[in-house]
Amino acid sequence: MSDVEGVRLTPRLRLDPVDTSRAHDLWLVHGEEEVWRWYGAHAPTRARIGERAALMEQAWRLHGVHKWMAYERDGGRVVGRGGLSRTPVDADWGQVYRFLPDEPWARQVHDARSPYPAHAHWLEIGWAVRHRFRGQGYATEIGRAGLVFAFDVLGARAVVSCTLRHNVRSRAVMERLGMGFAGEIASRGLVEGAVHEQDDAPYVVHVLLRDEWPG
Ligand SMILES: CC(C)(COP(=O)(O)OP(=O)(O)OC[C@H]1O[C@@H](n2cnc3c(N)ncnc32)[C@H](O)[C@@H]1OP(=O)(O)O)[C@@H](O)C(=O)NCCC(=O)NCCS
Repeated sequence: MSDVEGVRLTPRLRLDPVDTSRAHDLWLVHGEEEVWRWYGAHAPTRARIGERAALMEQAWRLHGVHKWMAYERDGGRVVGRGGLSRTPVDADWGQVYRFLPDEPWARQVHDARSPYPAHAHWLEIGWAVRHRFRGQGYATEIGRAGLVFAFDVLGARAVVSCTLRHNVRSRAVMERLGMGFAGEIASRGLVEGAVHEQDDAPYVVHVLLRDEWPG
């Protein structure tokens, strides 16, 4: 269900495309240590969050999609952020080709080369929920809305989700959404128990192909 372009309504949430006007709300999510720890060894600065919001705004305009801020439909409090983004064409994401069908669409590049060159037919999905809203199914609700948007609105061929191997909460969301484990890749991140990031941290990859999507 949607009212204006990109905005979605789920049973309990209003999902709004991230733009610079929502940088503070994005900060409320990514400023929580329980969230930023999964994305790097250091807390992001407010300036960095502002840059991320600007990139997301650009991606919504040029790629037709990026992450949403999630708000309670009743009350309007910031619940989290999540949803889709087009995957960059780079060596990191190139590791995912082996988990996709060996067909031309998997490597086809989106027409808009800005804000970054991206794959045209498959996207990444993710979620982050503020501490006080965890354990209530909100991440799964955001994820389901993302899959509907990917397959029914954008006509995507596949959606993938990646997280550090030891992120059991995020992996549980992928499983609840019916996204099957496909394998692992190595990328920059914090290995369990480590203080410093390393280049070859293990990430699991879960994949849902359009043909497997029950709709
Ligand atoms: C990953 C993350 C979003 C998962 O949040 P979560 O609250 O565990 O996931 P959900 O919102 O889907 O909630 C699921 C729980 O709510 C319960 N639940 C209650 N009502 C529910 C409903 N209507 N629908 C689905 N689940 C419901 C489920 O049974 C499950 O319970 P459990 O925790 O006892 O297993 C959260 O841990 C987080 O923000 N982590 C930091 C950021 C992060 O790691 N992001 C991913 C990086 S790739």
